Amino acid sequence: HRDLLGIGQLERHEILYLIDEAEQWVALNRQSAKHTDALAGLTIINAFFENSTRTLLSFEIAGKRLGADVVNMHAAQSSVKKGETLIDTAITLNAMHPDAIVIRHGSSGAVALIAGKVDCPVLNAGDGSHEHPTQALLDALALRHALRDRGEKADDFTGLTVTICGDILHSRVARSNVLCLTALGANVRLCAPPALMPAGIERMGVQTFHNFDEALAGTDVAMMLRLQTERMEGQFIPSPREYHHLYGLTRKRLANAAPDALVMHPGPMNRGVEIDSDVADMLDRSIITRQVEMGVAIRMAALDILTRKARGVAGWAEQQ
Ligand code: CP
Repeated sequence: HRDLLGIGQLERHEILYLIDEAEQWVALNRQSAKHTDALAGLTIINAFFENSTRTLLSFEIAGKRLGADVVNMHAAQSSVKKGETLIDTAITLNAMHPDAIVIRHGSSGAVALIAGKVDCPVLNAGDGSHEHPTQALLDALALRHALRDRGEKADDFTGLTVTICGDILHSRVARSNVLCLTALGANVRLCAPPALMPAGIERMGVQTFHNFDEALAGTDVAMMLRLQTERMEGQFIPSPREYHHLYGLTRKRLANAAPDALVMHPGPMNRGVEIDSDVADMLDRSIITRQVEMGVAIRMAALDILTRKARGVAGWAEQQ
């Protein structure tokens, strides 16, 4: 593949290859000297048309640790605000001869549209409600490390049950995680209020629930998602109190899950709404900060792999 547009484009062995390649960068990132010159001389543009903390910063850090020149374009401070179209913006970025473009956009399919207009690899940093592939990959890497720390086999997730709870309808994180986790053998349960569960999602090989206690029963992992109110214009929005009562992860609720069940959240968190602070901060169970750590390593792996052709290094297809 030239681009990384979604987990849906990847075979199981390609998902595992990306995760395995990230291990070297986890090790590098834990050292005091974190710099390599693998991508020296290359230019990476991060074009973000939606807000971000984790994804933008980790792509920037990833590119810099690999030795590339990294520049960020924030749509709010760009000529998009003067009416420039998405396609004209893409053509403009392409004319500067970048070696990779990382894009976040509020519309599903916008990243694929840009990929069709430029000459370099494009990485999807989240497009509308469609996909957020590097999030699912970093989640898988964080889960692998947490399981290994407990002495459990974690080459893939066969036999593991993961419950994803929250605003599934609007969540690109849920979609990419369903594709990634099922490809790696996990049993995936989705839990949401009826209005926030996409119709027919069972076709993706998941079980659906509207009752959170039933969805949590015996689960090995609880992955919590926030309500994406920015995508709910004109829709009924549950009050934070009501939502917490039915779908908030509390210590009491977590007791229904498997003993030592892990807690995940892609961030940003709304503490006291979808997750209680004391659960988010449980040192032995919550791997939320480890997810952030793995984000840098996964993005280093993705940038390294996708720029190999431009660097005259054998691409990932040839190396598998
Ligand atoms: N998880 C995630 O995509 O976070 P940001 O929106 O802060 O990038």
